[in-house]
Amino acid sequence: MCGIVGAVAQRNVVPILLEGLQRLEYRGYDSAGLAVVHDGQLERVRSIGRVADLTEKSAGTRGFIGIAHTRWATHGVPSVRNAHPHISKDHVAVVHNGIIENYEVLRTRLTAAGYEFTSDTDTEVIAHLIHSHYARGNSLLVATQASLAELVGAYAIGVIAADNPDQLICARRGSPLLLGVGIEEHFIASDVSALLPVTRNVVYLEEGDVVEVGRRSYQIFDTKGMRVERTVQISELNNESVQLGEYCHYMQKEIHEQPQALADTLESVCNSQSLVPGIFGAEAAATFADIDSILILACGTSYHAGLVARYWLEEITGIRCTVEVASEYRYRISVANPKTLVVVISQSGETADTQAALNHAKTHGHIHTLAICNVPESALVRLCKLRMLTRAGPEIGVASTKAFTTQLAALFLLTLILAKQRGRLTAEQEQKHLQELRHLPSGVKKVLELEPQIAKLAEQFASKHHALFLGRGLHYPIALEGALKLKEISYIHAEAYPAGELKHGPLALVDKDMPVISVAPNDALLEKLKSNLQEVRARGGELYVFADAHTHIREAEGIHIMQMPEHAGYLSPILHTIPLQLLAYYVALQKGTDVDKPRNLAKSVTVE
Ligand code: G6P
Repeated sequence: MCGIVGAVAQRNVVPILLEGLQRLEYRGYDSAGLAVVHDGQLERVRSIGRVADLTEKSAGTRGFIGIAHTRWATHGVPSVRNAHPHISKDHVAVVHNGIIENYEVLRTRLTAAGYEFTSDTDTEVIAHLIHSHYARGNSLLVATQASLAELVGAYAIGVIAADNPDQLICARRGSPLLLGVGIEEHFIASDVSALLPVTRNVVYLEEGDVVEVGRRSYQIFDTKGMRVERTVQISELNNESVQLGEYCHYMQKEIHEQPQALADTLESVCNSQSLVPGIFGAEAAATFADIDSILILACGTSYHAGLVARYWLEEITGIRCTVEVASEYRYRISVANPKTLVVVISQSGETADTQAALNHAKTHGHIHTLAICNVPESALVRLCKLRMLTRAGPEIGVASTKAFTTQLAALFLLTLILAKQRGRLTAEQEQKHLQELRHLPSGVKKVLELEPQIAKLAEQFASKHHALFLGRGLHYPIALEGALKLKEISYIHAEAYPAGELKHGPLALVDKDMPVISVAPNDALLEKLKSNLQEVRARGGELYVFADAHTHIREAEGIHIMQMPEHAGYLSPILHTIPLQLLAYYVALQKGTDVDKPRNLAKSVTVE
């Protein structure tokens, strides 16, 4: 989703802005632009292509202060006129991430006041509004603060003015933004990866913060306009972890990073002899003792992780668990229970719907909150009482892979710890699970060896328009995740069904052109699943089965088997996810799509 970079320095900031934008490309965008102040004038360059096009177009542009943006269209089509920065009267330039809900009212008012709108965006009202206050003699800071007070909605913004080459103003409410602290230079960005070439020292801005950013100093003001100090943190993100290295795409790299990501996420647990609630925070033991149900809220892939966890949680801990799509829950009148543990799952920790769902839950009286998240210091982590950080490292590919499997690992730990606390896990079972978790990274490595075989298999999919994914029980959410991966990056229409539901509708779709992909673990539902597969075969459907060892599902005409290792018990969903990620990746390669930045999608969905 939209990315912001800004800089005020003693040197030409254009290369810094462009590199920053390039590093934010993964968030998803459809146009890009920048503006600098040079010789008392604003210079703006915008492009509807990639950041590389903007770079070409920016040759010769220079300035010691500037703002830049990658736009993911919400209001108005992707076009140069809608690309940011938006400029008011050649004087004030603004970049914005978020959605201004009252923009129509403001637009009417500002038009009546003589402002000419040149785009269809909601953002342009911010530029004109700030200009209207600035033109009355207010400082850029005060003009911005006054304007923000009139906005309804979510924003992260960066503002510069032609006659103010020394100050950049930024602010955030509902959308992420941080400040980078350099030596006699300062920066702003949507996330820290954009700033790694220039600084590691960052200040994570809080809700409602407005900052006056100069070269030598900066001043932060809170929602009430009071000056506040915020801690400067040293980002641990390392530059190599956001480089592509030997891989063709980030998605491929991230699929292969899963053994390490899982090992890192499980490190503290696997090195110890027993499971303790403390890994979820100091108050975890007391909180867990006080709960009688669990509510999981998430979006996209993270929601699928929640669906898997429900099977584990109810079966192993005996605690009732519901899982809900965050964008639905946030608007639903539901029955609150203060003894519910609300678990939000998110890779980014910034997803607007998940944040709103969490706030909705809190407003309705939920007090026990836990974030399972991949980004320390993200909004969700800060908003929850308890937390567990997955240690997947930066995930750049829009299609989530290593974040998902590490979320599953974290959720399985939650399950075991709750079960132990409730006396539903014997010491022997605990040791057995710990042993299995220790072996998980090597188990994933083994499954990754299927890559060449899956690459070959993908050749048969490129010409298909539809695909059906089947799974049962714990593996039904894995079928959902497999279908999501395929549609996200190959644009093939894919649906997932619990295999038992086939006969209640989707079987009507099955013919020789409909590939049916089945997750076939060697578990209690295997024989049922086999019957479902027969139903498909009898209708001429082509079957692609990811089968555990000893399932006795044999290769035959119309039945293609991908041989998985021995059944991994409760951890099996993690292993069965891997080949489906690889399948989606290689089908996308065959189709020549933009794997890491699929059309219309964004990595971090910071608007509703
Ligand atoms: C976007 C991404 C998905 C992700 C979802 C939730 O749609 O493209 O890959 O699963 O957001 O994101 P989160 O960061 O909250 O896990």
